[in-house]
Amino acid sequence: MDIDGKTAIITGAGSGIGRATALRLAREGANIVVADVNDAGAAETVQQIEAAGGRATAVHADVTQSAGIDAMFAAAQQHYGGFDILHNNAGITTGQPRWPDCAEERWRRTIEVDLMAVIETTRRAIPLLRARGGGVIISTASLAGLFGFQADPVYTAAKHGVVGMTRSLVYLKDEANIRVNCVCPGVVRTPLVTSGIESLAGAEREEAERRLGQMPMIDPAEVAEGVFELIRDDGATGVALGVTIGQRRVVPPPISLPVTSGDPQAAAQR
Ligand code: NAI
Repeated sequence: MDIDGKTAIITGAGSGIGRATALRLAREGANIVVADVNDAGAAETVQQIEAAGGRATAVHADVTQSAGIDAMFAAAQQHYGGFDILHNNAGITTGQPRWPDCAEERWRRTIEVDLMAVIETTRRAIPLLRARGGGVIISTASLAGLFGFQADPVYTAAKHGVVGMTRSLVYLKDEANIRVNCVCPGVVRTPLVTSGIESLAGAEREEAERRLGQMPMIDPAEVAEGVFELIRDDGATGVALGVTIGQRRVVPPPISLPVTSGDPQAAAQR
């Protein structure tokens, strides 16, 4: 897809990977709808895009609420006449204490934001993109969507869900010219990783800062580059793109099954 002049809705674009992607796509000439619950962060992203000569608009949108999804779709319609790209990027972790000891409300919220909202926003975007003649849906999953991640089992379950859904929507390319892909980064230097430390004190905080200082972390701009490549590549569909420091590589499913159609009945008859 030629990104110049297209419109992208990016959730969670008020910080981290979402902001880096917003800046990257704006640089290519895309209009950006910066959707976030963090209004100050969203305004800052818009300000940075505009300062670089791009076009963007901020919208307050909680992706777990139907009204939030309405608001970001409406903002795209009102300012740019619709959208061509949806980047499902907003995400949270369960934090500490680790599941199963964390509060039930916290792990349920993680599934709501990281998986249910991706499913629902994607569901609602498909008919809009179909009516427009096609588009790209891209989600920020994680390496935790491809491998076990002991630090956060529920986050890992949600991200595996995002990868599984992405790989299951391959048929939309032929059916509606909609390509669905995801990026799967390792540890990225964003507030999602660094802000947990602020809640700690004393020796615990010192130890956490020491460990974080030793951890090689990916720059959010590298993840944004992966998102950009997946949008631009008209052949990319159902792809999970692993992103580690200095490397972006398509991660194939561990085994391939003969079923490729979106219609299981048709597949059973083959
Ligand atoms: P971040 O914390 O910097 O940004 C996340 C943004 O999502 C924040 O601005 C936050 O306000 C927003 N958000 C949270 N809940 C929301 C909701 N209900 N509705 C709308 N916006 C909401 O974190 P980061 O790292 O940029 O995370 C972005 C995505 O990348 C997440 O899906 C995360 O799981 C994923 N990821 C992050 C990695 C990392 O190491 N930082 C590694 C792999 C994936």
